[in-house]
Parts: sequence; structure tokens; C-alpha cells
Amino acid sequence: MLLEQMRELRDADGNWREGRTWSLVYYADEEHYDFLKEAHNTFFSENGLNPMVFKSLRRMESEVVRMSAEMLHGDGDVVGTMTSGGTESILMAVKAARERFRKKRFIFNGQPELVVPESIHVAFGKAAHYFGLKVRYVPLRDDFRVDVDALKRAVNRNTALIAASAPQYAHGVIDPIEEIGAFAQREDIPFHVDACFGGFFLPWMEKLGYDLPPFDFRVPGVTSISADVHKYGYAAKGASVVLYRNMSYLKHQFYISTDWPGGIYPSPSAAGTRPGGPIAAAWAAMKAMGEDGYLKLTRTTMEAVEALQSGVRRIEGLKVLGSTDGPMVCVAADGPEVDIYAVVDQLNAKGWNLDRQQNPNSFHLSVTANHLQAVPAFLEDLQQAVEHVRAHPELKSEGQAAMYGMIAKIPFRGAVKFSVQKIMEGMYGPDGKVPDLGGEATEDDDLIMQLMDKYGDKAMGILEKLESSREVIKDALSWKK
Ligand SMILES: Cc1ncc(COP(=O)(O)O)c(C=O)c1O
Repeated sequence: MLLEQMRELRDADGNWREGRTWSLVYYADEEHYDFLKEAHNTFFSENGLNPMVFKSLRRMESEVVRMSAEMLHGDGDVVGTMTSGGTESILMAVKAARERFRKKRFIFNGQPELVVPESIHVAFGKAAHYFGLKVRYVPLRDDFRVDVDALKRAVNRNTALIAASAPQYAHGVIDPIEEIGAFAQREDIPFHVDACFGGFFLPWMEKLGYDLPPFDFRVPGVTSISADVHKYGYAAKGASVVLYRNMSYLKHQFYISTDWPGGIYPSPSAAGTRPGGPIAAAWAAMKAMGEDGYLKLTRTTMEAVEALQSGVRRIEGLKVLGSTDGPMVCVAADGPEVDIYAVVDQLNAKGWNLDRQQNPNSFHLSVTANHLQAVPAFLEDLQQAVEHVRAHPELKSEGQAAMYGMIAKIPFRGAVKFSVQKIMEGMYGPDGKVPDLGGEATEDDDLIMQLMDKYGDKAMGILEKLESSREVIKDALSWKK
């Protein structure tokens, strides 16, 4: 009964099995899916927190790390751990770099800094927020790769870590890793390559003959790499690896407590309890796929990528942004007469799920082998959507297109943050309701906009104070007289 109810709930979700969801799920086929579930469930209750009790998990984790290190051209010194996903791998890499920086510069007591391209995954911003680093964002060149000269200028004596992507999520391009690596090595600053997205894809692309710049441990100066097994490793969710050139970097990731009444507690990564299922499924996926399996999936994926790119290029009014350094396609409007967000609204209405992006406005497709079957139908719907939007320019100010269009244009990002904060408070509040931010503008909205116009992001401070005084009043009203 309960399981039936759950299946019903799931049936109303985005359809990924037929390739209609262009991110979030990495699915090979039904046979692999069933196999993964069994591998995962065999270690469903086991806990990697204590590797002495669950030696099986320790062994599988170390084999996953070893196989990943070899795939990314690391030598025998490369070490690492598994984590719950790309974000945790990145959090750990930043935390390790910060610890290392503190130990090396023990006289220095300023704030350690992180130097990253504007396109770097948000997990770096999150890591800096959690671990108290200052982030210096470096602008991109016209080809969406980071401007290395600007990056060099952003580095200073407080820089604890430089990071770049292979490839970055939004436009799918690889940053100039070799150039950055040479600079990082010369300056003796750790350099992390975020290959969460491409780590389990680019090596196979290269083997298939695609001409890619080196992005992994072959590049001198690269000191750590994150790569997600739960993406193109086609494993179960909750599995990534973070690798370091040697133990002198990894050791700063560990946390060891010696005085807790519960005992001596060493912890390799952020998690306490480490679920066995994802570790086991990652190991099983890599063993079962092997080189042949991954090569086959990569070939099919690239067939889909190339079909999508040439299909999009044939549609008047659209263009592909960035070049293909990996399995994603980023699409933007090629002129003002097509509003790309209105196109996405049309596609949503036909059951496609896509990511809307900003700076510039575009949509993103993370392509997997399973998407090949959906390419002809997608291109047909895309063509129709573009024609429809061109014939109905008013669509740009309706539905989600209006909201995303407005959000992309608001110069004060604080105002956007404020609205998103309200949505989250609603969604995670006691009644789980998302506040309706659409509809008619109220007098309050108008006042807020005037405040923003006048004071820019400084207005946020005023709004936050207003919010907290509301809380104080509500609190006072709840007191007994
Ligand atoms: C380049 C890149 N880095 C990091 C991540 C974060 O991975 P996760 O969502 O598993 O935390 C992603 C996710 O798409 C990514 O594309």
C-alpha cells in the first residue's frame, strides 16, 4: 500500500527513463539499473564509519579510489577518499587546502582566499562560506574559459587554493588547466581541478580520439581532482571521489577527535555515518562497466551531443554556446526576437525538463547515452517552440519566462537572494508551502523596489532588519499578558 503510494508519487515526477529530463539522472539501461540496486542493497545497512568493522567497504572504497586515480593518470602516490557527491568532494578539497595553508603560514593570521573562475560550481562558494575563506571570482574570456591573466592577478599571498573546471557545468568547456597548473606550481599554490562532471567522461572521450587538452594528474601543478562516480560513472547516487597528488595534501582533510567520551573518533570526510550502499554500488558499477562499458556509453552519448548540436544550429533563432569539451549542450537565443526562457516554458509544457541558466540567458542539456532515443522528438519540439515564441512575443512576459527574465535582469542580486530565501523558508517551513511570488505587485513590493533602486544591495540590510523586527513583534504577541 505504502509502496504503491510512493510509486504513484514518483510517477508524477520528471520522466528520465525516456530521456525527457536533461540533468540530474544518469541512467545506462534497465539491466545496469537492476544490478546497481542489488549491489547497493547488499550493503544497505553497512556503515563505512568504522572500517575495522566493515573491512569490505574499506576495501571497495580504496579500489574505487585506485581505479579513479589510474583513470585520471595519477601515479602510485595519488590518494583520496570517497564522499557522498561532488559537493562534499569540493568541500573536502577546500577544507584540506585551508588547513594546509594555515599550517604552512603559521605566522599569517589573515583570511585565506580561494581563486576561481566565475563559472566554477557553486559548491566552491558554499565551501568558502562554510570554512571562512574569501572567494575571488575571475572573469571568463569570450569562449567561456577563465581568463588566465586575470586569474594570475587575483592570486596573492593569502591564496590557499586555485580551482578550475574540466569541464564547467554551464557551458561545458574545459578551463586552461595546463596554463593554470604551470602558474600554480611556480607559485607553490595548490590547484584543484573540478572534474565532478567530466572525470568519468573525458578520459573515455580521449580514448575515442577526441582532441582534448590534458586536464588531470598529467598536468604538473594539479594537486587535487574531484570526480563523481554517481554521474558518468553510472553508479548509484551518493558517490564521488576526491583525489590528491599525495598524502601531504590529503592528510589535511582528516578530522580526528581524541577526547570525546564516546572514544577516539577519526573521520576521513564530512560524513559521520558513511552509508555502505553508494560505496558498494560505485565499486560494482566500475567493475561491471570496465573500459569497454564506459567507452560504449561515451560513444553513444557523443552521438547524441553531436546530433543535438547540429540540430540546434539548424533552427533559426538559436545558437549553441561554447564548444564541445564534454557531454553538455548549452543553447541561447541568436537575437532578440526569441526569448529563450519562453522557449523553455513551451518545452516544459510538453514534458521536457531543462535547466534555465543566466549570464547569458540560456538552457543547458547534460547529455547521457540514454538521451539518444529522445533527440529527434526533442529537436522537433524545440523547433516548434521557437516558432511559437517568435509568433507570440507576449509569451516573454508570461509564466516562468517572465519570472526568470526579471530575475536575470535585476541588478541587485541581494533582492534575488531575498526572494529565494523567502521561497526556501516557505518550502522548508512547517506547512511546506512555496509562497506565491508571482501575481500582482503589492504596495510592499513597490516600496521594496524603490528602496533597491535608491540603495542597491545596501537595502538588504534594511529589509533584513524589518524582517527581524516582524519576528520580534510576532514573538511579543505570543506572550501571555
Ligand atoms: C562541474 C561540477 N562540479 C560539482 C558538481 C556538484 O556535484 P553534486 O551535485 O554531486 O554535489 C556538479 C554537479 O553537477 C558539477 O557539474
